Amino acid sequence: MDILDIIEKKKKGQKLSSEEISFFAAGYAKGDIPDYQASALLMAICINGMHSDETAALTKAIVESGETLDLSGLPGIKVDKHSNGGVGDKASLVVVPMLASLGYTVIKASGRGLGHTGGTLDKLESIGGLVVGMDMDRLMSIAERTNALICEQSPMITPADKKLYALRDVTATVDSPSLIAASIMSKKIACGADAIVLDVKIGSGSFMKTLEDGQALAREMISIGTSTGKKVSAVLTDMGQPLGYAVGNALEVIEAANTLKGSGPGDLLEVSIELASTLMASVGEDKAAAVEKLIGSINSGMAYSKFVQIILAQGADEVYADNINLILEPRESVVLKAREGGYVYITDCEAIGKASLECGAGRKQLGDTIDSSAGIMMHVKNGDLVSAGDPVATLYSSSSDKLEIALGLLDGAFGYCQAKPDAVETILGTLS
Ligand code: URA
Repeated sequence: MDILDIIEKKKKGQKLSSEEISFFAAGYAKGDIPDYQASALLMAICINGMHSDETAALTKAIVESGETLDLSGLPGIKVDKHSNGGVGDKASLVVVPMLASLGYTVIKASGRGLGHTGGTLDKLESIGGLVVGMDMDRLMSIAERTNALICEQSPMITPADKKLYALRDVTATVDSPSLIAASIMSKKIACGADAIVLDVKIGSGSFMKTLEDGQALAREMISIGTSTGKKVSAVLTDMGQPLGYAVGNALEVIEAANTLKGSGPGDLLEVSIELASTLMASVGEDKAAAVEKLIGSINSGMAYSKFVQIILAQGADEVYADNINLILEPRESVVLKAREGGYVYITDCEAIGKASLECGAGRKQLGDTIDSSAGIMMHVKNGDLVSAGDPVATLYSSSSDKLEIALGLLDGAFGYCQAKPDAVETILGTLS
């Protein structure tokens, strides 16, 4: 089999066989196929799409590039959660400890920043000492102590996704529904959970801009998961504005920690509770009782204690267990002020993600290092009334040149209306 023939075939919009897809995924994971040929195929897939059989074959091939975890020796029901990516989306950092504090086992493989969206691994790595890459012995020993952890793809877990993910991030080949579905579902299948909840973000800050596109992605992922015997539900959530106020790695960890302590933003709490309770309902809990338990896990301090236990088990320095705010390092800042008075309306949430990336919170090239204290703190939400000159966001970076470029981008994301815009629900629907 020749990779050039495979690229040629997809360039012409033809369907690839499962053998061709597995040749590509295995060959790329092993290093037999170079980045430039993989990039060409990814771009052809982005442009010409994939049939659902091809997406399922790609998912299987990515799973088979590594091992599938056997969680049968761990206690509790095994559950998992994943999002298709958004701006300020730190819900995993809230959902995983909440569920683990209630006795569920949550072994979650996450991703790094992708395109304009942030990644849970980059966020976690803003906590000094914490490691997300681990071998099977370390993974199992942490899981036995904490019943939860968040790790990266590795030679063991979906190695093909690790390489493809990083390549997609820097070749403008992220926003293909098939590539997103295969990337997400391969990690979920490899991590061995029985039930999965998917947060499918929809709106200008997501890769899925319309409800129809989001629903189609959700259905495709549900179908892949259920065909492997998993219980899969999807919650469709709004990504027309950042989730919470913080955008950027350390800023988001602090906001997630505050949410676990009961003082986080309402929309982040709402999304996190909806995801976790939908998952609990899918394994037989009464949904209203699940919501009560989740709120109880926050009010009792159990959820935050579990968060601390998880980060310490993953190597975080003790000092952050006592004061998570210490993860923020000194950096420069600039305030964005409202151009005019009116009701705030975010017209382009993707631009907020790009502005955060410009501050240093994401990568533009393979191997770029992240400025973990960089990012944006929003001061307003859609529908808030401001006067001209009011502060609407603060940008942070270690470089003032970067701040200047980011400021221009961010300004373009804000609109100001004279009539109050209709409120958009945070939870747009559920599919299972
Ligand atoms: N999350 C993933 O793991 N992969 C994607 O492609 C998008 C979001």
